[in-house]
Amino acid sequence: MRRLPGDPAEHDNTERMIRVDHAGEYGAARIYAGQLAVLRNAPARKLVEHMAGQERRHLETFETLMRQRKVRPTALMPLWHVAGFALGAATALMGEKAAFACTVAVESVIDGHYAAQREKLGSTESELAHTIETFRAEEAEHHDTSLAQGAEQAPLYPVLTAAIKGASRLAIWLSTRI
Ligand SMILES: [Fe+2]
Ligand SMILES: [Fe+2]
Repeated sequence: MRRLPGDPAEHDNTERMIRVDHAGEYGAARIYAGQLAVLRNAPARKLVEHMAGQERRHLETFETLMRQRKVRPTALMPLWHVAGFALGAATALMGEKAAFACTVAVESVIDGHYAAQREKLGSTESELAHTIETFRAEEAEHHDTSLAQGAEQAPLYPVLTAAIKGASRLAIWLSTRI
């Protein structure tokens, strides 16, 4: 895409990408931490632990990128620390299926977000583009696994997922700008 006068420089765009992705992966790790705090002996615990492990790896990758490129984290990290955990714990308290519904909602937003970033990068930043592609595939797996666990049978599924999708989009919007 051609840059217009007044558009942020490409370099800034990449920084913002890394900042928002770092925030998102941090939020995801906190959501799973909240779920695991509640789902102590649940049959699905192993599955949630597996997804949580992948989120930690995603987070570490973006932490490394931030250090290498001297990108600052979003000022909203303390908010995502609390809100992520609260969202995970609250949905898990509604039951395992609601916890999976939360993952379906979040991952469907992240899928679109990573797809848009990947497209924006085009043939630039091949390493970052590859990272985003790899993570996007894993997020899609989380989405599908959660559906297979009966997420759609969660109480108030349409309302619950619509609310979580809205919150996720807002979190992305904010973390790109603050
Ligand atoms: Fe992730
Ligand atoms: Fe994920």
